[in-house]
Amino acid sequence: MSQVHILAARSPISFESELVSCSSTISTSISISFNDKTTNTLLDRFISTPVTHDTTPAIDDGRDEFAVPGLPPVHYGHIDTHLRNGVMKAAELAADGEPDAEKAFFVADLSYVYSQHLRWKRLLPEIEPFYAVKCNPDPYVLRLLKALGTGFDCASNGEISQVLSLGVDPSRVIFANPCKATSFVRQSAKAGVEMMTFDNTDELYKIARAHPGAKLVVRILTDDSKSLCRLGLKYGAPLVTVPALLAKAKELDLNVIGVSFHVGSGCYDTAAYVDAIARARAAFDMGKAAGYDFTLLDVGGGFEDATFERAASILKEALDAHFPCRDKMRIIAEPGRYYVSKAFSLAVNVIARRAPPGLEGGGEDSEEADPEQPSVMYYINDGVYGAFNCIMFDHQTPQPYVLCLNGSFHVPASVDMCAASVWGPTCDSIDVVCPVTRLPRTLQVGDWLAFENMGAYTVCAASQFNGFALSNAVYTTGGGVGSAEVRRLLRGSALA
Ligand SMILES: Cc1ncc(COP(=O)(O)O)c(C=O)c1O
Repeated sequence: MSQVHILAARSPISFESELVSCSSTISTSISISFNDKTTNTLLDRFISTPVTHDTTPAIDDGRDEFAVPGLPPVHYGHIDTHLRNGVMKAAELAADGEPDAEKAFFVADLSYVYSQHLRWKRLLPEIEPFYAVKCNPDPYVLRLLKALGTGFDCASNGEISQVLSLGVDPSRVIFANPCKATSFVRQSAKAGVEMMTFDNTDELYKIARAHPGAKLVVRILTDDSKSLCRLGLKYGAPLVTVPALLAKAKELDLNVIGVSFHVGSGCYDTAAYVDAIARARAAFDMGKAAGYDFTLLDVGGGFEDATFERAASILKEALDAHFPCRDKMRIIAEPGRYYVSKAFSLAVNVIARRAPPGLEGGGEDSEEADPEQPSVMYYINDGVYGAFNCIMFDHQTPQPYVLCLNGSFHVPASVDMCAASVWGPTCDSIDVVCPVTRLPRTLQVGDWLAFENMGAYTVCAASQFNGFALSNAVYTTGGGVGSAEVRRLLRGSALA
């Protein structure tokens, strides 16, 4: 059953001080007089919100905002603080008559990316992460990962250029797309990117022509049946085809340096790595038989935040079993969602509501025919053609929580709920974000919902169908441990 999460008053807002720390674009005073009656009412409600101070422990290294030239500012403080600041800013913009004042927005907590990296280093110290850029090519995420020393898995010229433009050395890039355009292969040769994957003979002929000095990695097929996105439907050489592929590579005088696999994105059965490592071992032996001495194993992506500890220990056990002597071996991985999924939350505005007769005004006294069937339809300002494309392409089922109800960030736990559906803003009926969920009966146009875990495979695949602009991100380095180091790394990246 879908459920709505009520935002507890974890870090209630101090209106004035939070506005100051949020952004230089926000006025530091709220004593503005507006002509717009609606906005005045909304601001009045904010002002009557109880004021206390954020008690999140913080490291004080100077909390002023800073920005890398050409990018939005980076703030300090908890993600919830910035979600609320964004809502208040929207009210101000509306008061100023700004078009699209109530635009949906992400808040990205870069300290989460940092903490995931530390976790990776702690649990898988011998495996070098090559972040899968496709998952979220956010400029601050890439800069931070570069500063942390990760490599990058790129799938196109565009991704390679983006990463190299940050000053990443080409040796830290793997072109991990087994089926590339010839011009892309040629371009990667020019750019100095040598590592690339293949899984078919045509690709070998192509690489022999366009990039004969490449360091090739054969991508093998593994069991991906326990994953949200089964990449094996499209890529990966079945083991039986590998000897012939390697023989062809030898004949073409190509340099194959190792083996890669991908257990599928969103892998929910970590045992998949056991099967994959066993197959990789077999492929290494096939390499030996073909006259190669492989030194690289690429264990791909598929890592999940929730199961990472288990995946790491299963992977280590499998490596110990199948590659007991690996001091001369380089092991890399291509994690994507592991790094960013939880780093981004999305705030959306309720822009419209359709309720059956009797429920139009909130309908507290009205009886629903079936309390489990959604009767009220809410329309929000991002949808499946935008950030919620993850519903279509990444098999996600995002669930909202209430960020701001009736002008207040404090939603009482006792609020009366009803079944509702949530729709995106476009004119297409496929644009449904939650076919059924539970939301407060009093939720109305102008209120705000938020969605967590919106960092992976969301904005990167969003379109502007129907003229709806992409949702922008507000950045924070978080409000706790790690914030200072993230700020130091990002500041350094701005100077580099
Ligand atoms: C080749 C390759 N590597 C890595 C990834 C990242 O996977 P994940 O986000 O599940 O870690 C993908 C995702 O599609 C991929 O295709």
